[in-house]
Amino acid sequence: MDRKNEYIAVFDSGVGGISVLRQLRQELPNERFLYFGDSANAPYGDRPVEEVRALTLAAADMLMKRGSKALVVACNTATAAAIEQLRQTYPDKIIVGIEPAVKLAAGHFPYGRIGVMATQVTLKLERFDDLVHRFDDTTRVERISAPGLVDLIERGKADSPETEALLTKILSPWRGKLNALVLGCTHYPFVKKTVARILGEYTELLDGSLGTARETRHRLEAAGLLSDGPGEVVIEDSAPGGESIELAKRLLEQPEI
Ligand code: DGL
Repeated sequence: MDRKNEYIAVFDSGVGGISVLRQLRQELPNERFLYFGDSANAPYGDRPVEEVRALTLAAADMLMKRGSKALVVACNTATAAAIEQLRQTYPDKIIVGIEPAVKLAAGHFPYGRIGVMATQVTLKLERFDDLVHRFDDTTRVERISAPGLVDLIERGKADSPETEALLTKILSPWRGKLNALVLGCTHYPFVKKTVARILGEYTELLDGSLGTARETRHRLEAAGLLSDGPGEVVIEDSAPGGESIELAKRLLEQPEI
């Protein structure tokens, strides 16, 4: 097959990466996307880093064997744990990983106070400290973890009273105190409306999905690997029973998030 027509593989621990796939599909409508969610093993964010790395490399191996010209790691946690190993393993492929949008937030609010809500793995790795230290002179960054949130979203409960209660507990102490909150986990855009309600209108909500989609387009363009179409989306998931695939499809087609 012409390499241009190979898949762009998109990977997340579960359905969260659909928030990135939505942007990718808009940015690159002629591409063939193969989305894989590892819902059987989600959440990754509470696991030891070595386990997240091993699960990510196993998923990447499967996706590359299916014939993929690029891999988008649509999971901040998997990027934090494994992006270097992925780049070493596949030196000839385009590998793009999403990261918390700290740079974007620091740019919007110089001398501001920024919250980053992300999984425990993302927040504890040195990679995140390095990212934050780049903006030490201008930006105060608050680390906010949200144990239990990914699990609720994986169970299709993004809009439930349980999610509202959990987010209220985590975020109400920050109401009126942050210029921006970075949604540093790809599951979180699916609870954006609730987060906005709790934090109030003066806190801007930002995430890295648009930047990741644009970066993917630039990398494909530079390599001469943009497809002429027709576009396609295939969704697969490791969880048995098909419910995660149904949820992923619903989230992909949801008019607004
Ligand atoms: N969606 C993932 C992220 O962006 C992580 C969710 C999980 O904990 O599995 O970090």
